[in-house]
Amino acid sequence: MSLSNTRVSHKSNKVYIETYGCQMNVSDSEIVSSILLKNNFSIIDDPYKADVIFFNTCSIRDKAEQRLRNRLNNFKKLKKDKPYLKIGVLGCMAERLKEKLIEQEKIVDMIMGPDSYRNIPYVIREADMGNKSVNVILSNEETYADINPVRRSSNNVTAFISITRGCDNKCSFCVVPLTRGMERSRNPISIIEEAKHLHDEGYKQITLLGQNVDSYLWYGGGPKKDYKQAKREPNFDMKKTWNFSRLLDEMAVAVPSMRIRFSTSNPQDMTEDVIDVIAKHDNICKHIHLPIQSGSSRILRMMRRGHTKEYYKDLIDRIKSKIPDCAITHDMIVGYPSETDYDHKQTLDLMNYVRYSHGFMFKYSERPGTYAYRKHKDDVKEEDKDNRLSDLIELQKEHSFGFNKRYVGTNVKVLVEGVSKKSDEKLFGRNSQNIVAIFPKNNNKIGDYIDVKIKDCTSATLIAES
Ligand code: SAH
Ligand code: F3S
Repeated sequence: MSLSNTRVSHKSNKVYIETYGCQMNVSDSEIVSSILLKNNFSIIDDPYKADVIFFNTCSIRDKAEQRLRNRLNNFKKLKKDKPYLKIGVLGCMAERLKEKLIEQEKIVDMIMGPDSYRNIPYVIREADMGNKSVNVILSNEETYADINPVRRSSNNVTAFISITRGCDNKCSFCVVPLTRGMERSRNPISIIEEAKHLHDEGYKQITLLGQNVDSYLWYGGGPKKDYKQAKREPNFDMKKTWNFSRLLDEMAVAVPSMRIRFSTSNPQDMTEDVIDVIAKHDNICKHIHLPIQSGSSRILRMMRRGHTKEYYKDLIDRIKSKIPDCAITHDMIVGYPSETDYDHKQTLDLMNYVRYSHGFMFKYSERPGTYAYRKHKDDVKEEDKDNRLSDLIELQKEHSFGFNKRYVGTNVKVLVEGVSKKSDEKLFGRNSQNIVAIFPKNNNKIGDYIDVKIKDCTSATLIAES
């Protein structure tokens, strides 16, 4: 029997999925699992026993792509030993590189972008026939609203629900609009039903996900950019329009015993009524992830962020006055093209102004195809990027420690999420502000809401009695 015949006769069944990058990718892998299970595939945890290996990938920085390429190298030998093994790349790297990735990485058989996952069963069958394929058409409508994600890796306490896909913002440095396409929102009824279903299954917390959740807008489906035109239609019913504050408000009422989180907020899209709804409901967590990327007005303009530093500071003031116990977290990029020591100092000043509870800090990484790639030379020395990143991390640590210290000596309500990584005798949970607390097991169970007394803290953790 020839090798190709062997291939034709193999029917792949066992699929292993490895997920990289953001929470949206975790959620997407759950959607992919659901589609596969419905089509009689099984999902397994061991890549070495799989017929198909999928990597759900991230393109946000060059490092993320390099990491995936190294990981693919690890599977070259396995692919040689098991000729029927099929390897697929999903997610942002698939969408960004398309057929180029198949040319560059010979062991890859399938390329599927974020809007193509419904085709996955057919693509696997094609691969079984020995055909390589590339599925990368971005959609204006796909939201996978009807697919109930399979939360295989979850702790059965917390779950993600994706509410929007794509992004219409055009931050100069960001590859996401290119890899995830136009912004579109998911039917709110399907979102609330999914939350109720999770509640009935015993889940205690949901996180609403989108590249830009505050921009959520449902008017019957379709891309957000077509809303203005849809409004002009004679039979358009304004009452059927949902924005993010309405979704949050109705969600908080629909599942009152569940905690609700959301990510990510963009300053220019966060409206006053969203702040009011967060303040109004106890079950909406008092934590807003509100990236700004830089404290320099000049750099913000170059980044085409769509808001000024003054607007951002005013927004922070309004949040703090309406929700005094709110934790605010950030993303910052150091070393954006032409960034000077003065720009950098402005970022540190802004951090001192806001006093974030936590943050994610990155060195600028040039991404092909973006506005910054075309127009702004990546000219900040690596050494300067390193030093500036260390400055930010150090300052953030100080602020996080300061933020956490306020809880020492007080009782804090946490949702128990799992066993502590450092000790089997301890559990961990989070408070409403998303700060992790560690406490003795005693009779506490995963999924319980408990009050713990905080006796000490680090910049990362609250240490509780129980
Ligand atoms: N709105 C999205 C943003 C995704 S990217 C969300 O849901 O969070 C996450 C963060 O990665 C950005 O906020 C930014 O700080 C960082 N980032 C994006 N592109 C980058 C690049 N080219 N180099 C370095 N960091 C980048
Ligand atoms: Fe990227 Fe800016 Fe959208 S960071 S995901 S283009 S809000």
